[in-house]
Amino acid sequence: TVPAGLKISVYGTGYLGATHAVSMAELGFEVMGVDTDANKVAALAAGKVPFFEPGLPELLEKQLATGRLTFSTDLEEAARWGDVHFICVGTPQMKTSHAANLGYVEAATSTVAKNLTKNGVIVGKSTVPVGTAARLRELIAGLTPEGVEVDLLWNPEFLREGKAVDDTLHPDRIVLGGTNARTEAIMREVYAGPIAEGTPVVVTDLPTAELVKVSANAFLATKISFINAIAGVCEAAGADVTVLADALGHDVRIGRQFLDAGLGFGGGCLPKDIRALMHRSNELGAYRAAALLQQVDEINMGQRERVIDMTMEALGGSVLNRRICVLGAAFKPLTDDVRDSPALNVAAALHLRGAQVTVFDPEAGDTARASFPTLSYATSAEEAVEGTDVVLMLTEWKQFTSLDPAALAKVATSPRIIDARGKLDPAEWRAAGWEFRGLGRTA
Ligand code: UGA
Repeated sequence: TVPAGLKISVYGTGYLGATHAVSMAELGFEVMGVDTDANKVAALAAGKVPFFEPGLPELLEKQLATGRLTFSTDLEEAARWGDVHFICVGTPQMKTSHAANLGYVEAATSTVAKNLTKNGVIVGKSTVPVGTAARLRELIAGLTPEGVEVDLLWNPEFLREGKAVDDTLHPDRIVLGGTNARTEAIMREVYAGPIAEGTPVVVTDLPTAELVKVSANAFLATKISFINAIAGVCEAAGADVTVLADALGHDVRIGRQFLDAGLGFGGGCLPKDIRALMHRSNELGAYRAAALLQQVDEINMGQRERVIDMTMEALGGSVLNRRICVLGAAFKPLTDDVRDSPALNVAAALHLRGAQVTVFDPEAGDTARASFPTLSYATSAEEAVEGTDVVLMLTEWKQFTSLDPAALAKVATSPRIIDARGKLDPAEWRAAGWEFRGLGRTA
């Protein structure tokens, strides 16, 4: 039976956990978000989201005001308080290998299991290598106090940064791995809102649920590397990859999304997830999957090299002491996240080669400066472009795709631009006097 007035504890208040806690409160539950990072907890409790995520600050404020949503650093209290315990802590890449670091997941799960005082469900949401959940189940069994009934299930998360709230409240699908009758009923209660809207529910075992998550990211990454590989063919053959992608996308079996050729993928998820799946596939002897993912990773990292080479070429072979403007620091628009950001990676590499690099990003300036303090930062695109020898458009923020090329041509020392995201119109920029280069297009 489902306890009336389900209480939800959410462990980890990063992108995933903070969004999940706020969204669960929005669905009408009492929620406690917990994190060991006291600064994060204090910020959230004061109504401040410690990262840029459109829509989340408004919803946080609204839910704090209802009194349903609280934040705490006390994991043990949250374990005693909640009925459903969502594990949303990070699984970063290990420093010394491609494997995922499961230390945070294990620590949070153990603390919950040890401190339970009533029957509950532990719900894994973190992205983990297949096989982790089964091990956690054993760990929990050995730690749970006598007389308490607790089950673990896996409910992977597919939210995108920049669209996190909408993805959580209106997901494409809900995957529940390793449920029994009791826990499935509880989860259907938790997600009653989205289910009533018609969101499909896939009920399966633990390893399938774990693998759905990483396979989804691996597929998206493969799609991007596929189009980037074809972009190389387009360049060599004088074809245009943006037109080609549109034409491919009309085939509903292919679809247009994730076929934007360019600088490739970055962020806290796709790169580390494909590497972790590569590592795990090798461990399991599934060498073909590992080989495929290796190629996807190599093609992706090659795009960064390609843009560095194009920049050198555009400047006659060397960037030493040349002034370079980089538009974009975030790994994609609508976020201030610079984890494994292709844009910053290219900016830093050019800086190391002796260029004077000035970066502008509408939201990620502060996070970028914290990671790369030696680069210069401008406060507007116009300021960044002023006096530069070449402009690189590396993150396709709307405000960059709507820049006025004629006005900018007046402030650049030599109007040269490399559009590494395929979002600018070459004809328009050339007409305004710019020397224009793009990836996967020669015309
Ligand atoms: C990704 C997945 O899209 C989510 O479904 C998943 O839940 C999340 O990872 C996660 O595992 O937590 P996210 O990292 O927010 O979400 O970013 P995406 O929107 O997937 O973009 C990833 C990268 O691919 C960005 O650097 C973007 O610029 C690049 N990209 C995307 C391309 O280069 N070309 C495209 O056509 C699309």
